[in-house]
Amino acid sequence: MQIKTLGVIGAGQMGSGIAQVAASAGLQVVMNDVKDEFIDRGLAGIEKSLGRMTKKGKISEEDAQAVLARIEGSTSLDDMVKADFVVEAIVENEEVKREVFRKLDDICNEGVVLSSNTSSISITRIASATGRPDKVIGMHFMNPVPVMKLVEIIKGLATSEHTFSLTKDLAEKMGKIAVPANDFPGFISNRILMPMINEAVYALFEGVGTAEDIDQVMKLGMNHPMGPLALADLIGLDTCLAIMEVLHKGLGDDKYRPCPLLRKYVDAGWLGRKSGRGFYVYE
Ligand code: 3HC
Repeated sequence: MQIKTLGVIGAGQMGSGIAQVAASAGLQVVMNDVKDEFIDRGLAGIEKSLGRMTKKGKISEEDAQAVLARIEGSTSLDDMVKADFVVEAIVENEEVKREVFRKLDDICNEGVVLSSNTSSISITRIASATGRPDKVIGMHFMNPVPVMKLVEIIKGLATSEHTFSLTKDLAEKMGKIAVPANDFPGFISNRILMPMINEAVYALFEGVGTAEDIDQVMKLGMNHPMGPLALADLIGLDTCLAIMEVLHKGLGDDKYRPCPLLRKYVDAGWLGRKSGRGFYVYE
């Protein structure tokens, strides 16, 4: 099947980034969220990101406008009937995702692949909410989506080879490099990244160093582009906590216990950049 229209569920930082790269690759995009204000915020983020790219001469003003024109906002899941392939990028909550997949299974045409941008939740379990588990797959983009090259592709127990190759081709069409991972909690990326971030939060919690010093050590000593605490703020502390909980529960090993300080920040609504405060304060 030729993929002409991509459905994106969720207009947050990941969903809007996915919509942007898909539209930049020439696809029509239907970007769905539950409220108009979320769509507007997502579109404003895309405009800002395209603005950065035009300023740097990476794309022309005209092309940026054409990219925006290819993205249609929607607050009705029924609009996913137009999609040839769907990427879900909503909150990291298994029950909420399963419910959305159940609805998508009813709405979307028979051959349509339903993919999830989940950062850690079992694809096999999400797929089992649908009547098409062979067409359900993980398509895990990295933040910021327009910049990061990787898409991790995760096959659930029942995912077919055809679904895998269709998803890989789509990722490549969107200018990304696809790497396969098996369906274990956190896949490859967050199995490794999140415990490092959690350990950095423990180092802060235990007073091993200040947030600035912990980040400097990892930037200057390990050549990471940003420190783990600044990265946690970029990802969202609620997302980091949700991923640690999936690792802890799914792997049953206490080495994955979320740091109490991470939990406390999330309880306080200090979610990182998106709330204006996390380990750092943002304008
Ligand atoms: N849209 C478009 N372009 C963007 C952008 C955006 N949202 N954000 C950054 N850029 C571009 C800039 O324009 C710049 O372009 P240039 O190289 O042509 O000048 C380039 O990216 C670098 O940006 P900056 O100069 O503003 O800043 P930095 O050099 O500090 O880079 C960064 C910013 C790309 C975010 C870099 O710090 C980085 O790579 N950080 C690590 C990000 C990372 O690890 N992401 C993975 C997170 S894990 C994840 O997403 C999985 C999930 O499941 C948790």
